[in-house]
Amino acid sequence: MYFSIAVLVTALLSPTVSALAFDGAVGFGSIATGGTGGTTVTVTTLADSGTGSLRDAVSQSNRIIEFSVSGYIVLDSALSLSSHLTINGQTAPGNGIGIMGAEVSASGKTNIIIRNLRMRQGTLDSDTGHSAFNMGKASNVILDHCSIEYGQWDSIDAVGTVNITVSNSIIALPIGQQFGAHVETGPSTFYRNLWVSAHNRQPLSKDDTQYINNVVYNYQAAYTSGNTAGYFSHDIIGNYFITGPSTSTAKDAFYQMDAQQSVYASGNYLDDNEDGELNGSSYNSVGSATVLSEPWSSDSSSLATLSAVEAVAYVLANSGALPRDELDTFVVSQVKSYGTNGTLYKSQTSTGVSNGGYGTL
Ligand SMILES: *[C@@H]1O[C@H](CO)[C@@H](O)[C@H](O)[C@H]1NC(C)=O
Ligand SMILES: *[C@@H]1O[C@H](CO)[C@@H](O)[C@H](O)[C@H]1NC(C)=O
Ligand SMILES: *[C@@H]1O[C@H](CO)[C@@H](O)[C@H](O)[C@H]1NC(C)=O
Repeated sequence: MYFSIAVLVTALLSPTVSALAFDGAVGFGSIATGGTGGTTVTVTTLADSGTGSLRDAVSQSNRIIEFSVSGYIVLDSALSLSSHLTINGQTAPGNGIGIMGAEVSASGKTNIIIRNLRMRQGTLDSDTGHSAFNMGKASNVILDHCSIEYGQWDSIDAVGTVNITVSNSIIALPIGQQFGAHVETGPSTFYRNLWVSAHNRQPLSKDDTQYINNVVYNYQAAYTSGNTAGYFSHDIIGNYFITGPSTSTAKDAFYQMDAQQSVYASGNYLDDNEDGELNGSSYNSVGSATVLSEPWSSDSSSLATLSAVEAVAYVLANSGALPRDELDTFVVSQVKSYGTNGTLYKSQTSTGVSNGGYGTL
C-alpha cells in the first residue's frame, strides 16, 4: 500500500518531459545534455594552450568544464570545441572568464551547453572572415548568459545549424560586417537577449524561429528573414525595438520579411523617437509576411513571456555573462540613453572602454 503511494507520488513529481540542458533552459537547444555524465575538467590557467588550459579541456568529448581562474584567455587561433561538452563559466571566481582574439568554434559538432562565457573576438584576430562564435552545421547547442561582442564576420554564425537556443545573452557591438546572428536550417530560439548597435542580422533567420522578449537597440536593421530565404515560420513575441543614433529607418526593425514568411507577431513595441525616454508603442506589422493568428510552434505559447516593457527591465538587468563586467555595463549604459548614445564600431579600440576596448575582468 505505502509502496503504491510512493510510486504515485514519484510519478507526479517527475514530469514525463525529457531532461533539460539546465534548470530554466528553454527552446529548441534545451534538449542538449552537453557533458552530463562525463568527466569534470577544471581550467587552471589563462594560457592559450597546454596543461590546464581551456583549449586542452575542450579537446575531448563528454566533459563538463569548470574554472579555478578568472580573467581573459587570449587566443592565438580559433578555439575548436568537441561534441558533448558543457562549459560553465559561472564556476570561475571573481569576475569570471572572457575569451578574446579569435573565434570560438562548435562547427560541425553536436550537443553543447555554454553558460556565462564572454566571447570577444575583436581586431586581434587577423581573420576577418571568422565570427565571435561559430556553430555552422552544428546541432543541439544552447548558449545562456553569454556575452558576444566584437565579432568580425557575424557575432554568431549558425548556418546549417539544427536545434539551437541563445538565451539571456548580450550580442553587441559587432565590428567588420557589423552583423548579429546568421541562422539557416534551424529551428532556433532567441529568448531574452540584448542586441546592440549592429548593421543587421539580429538575427537573420532563414529558418523556423522563436524570437521572444528580445531587446534591440540602435539598429540599422533588426529582425531579418532575408528575401531569398524560402518558406519559414517565425513567432515574434514581446520584443522591444529601440532606435538610436545609427538607426536611419525605424521600420527596419523588421527587414526583408517577404510573402514567403509566415509570422505570428504579438506584443512587440517600437520606440522610434530617440528622446531619452522609453515610451514606444505597439508595433506588430511585419512587412509583407503572411500573418499567423497563432504561433507556429506550440512551445511558444508555453514559454514564460514578459510584456515588451517588462522585457526591457529584465534584459537590461540580467542579460549577458554574470557577474556583469565593464564592457557589458558600457553596452547597457548606451541602451539606457534610450536614443541618444550609441554608434556602430569598426574596432573595439574606438569604444573608449579600458584594456583596449575589452574591459577589465
Ligand atoms: C532536434 O530536436 C528534435 C526534438 O525537438 C529531435 O527529434 C531531433 O532529432 C533533433 N535533431 C538533431 C539533429 O539532433
Ligand atoms: C516620451 O517622453 C519624453 C520625455 O518625457 C517626451 O518628451 C516625449 O514626448 C514622449 N514621447 C511620447 C511618444 O510619448
Ligand atoms: C551619453 O554619452 C555621453 C558622452 O560619452 C555621456 O556623457 C553621457 O553620460 C551618456 N548618456 C547616457 C545616458 O549614458
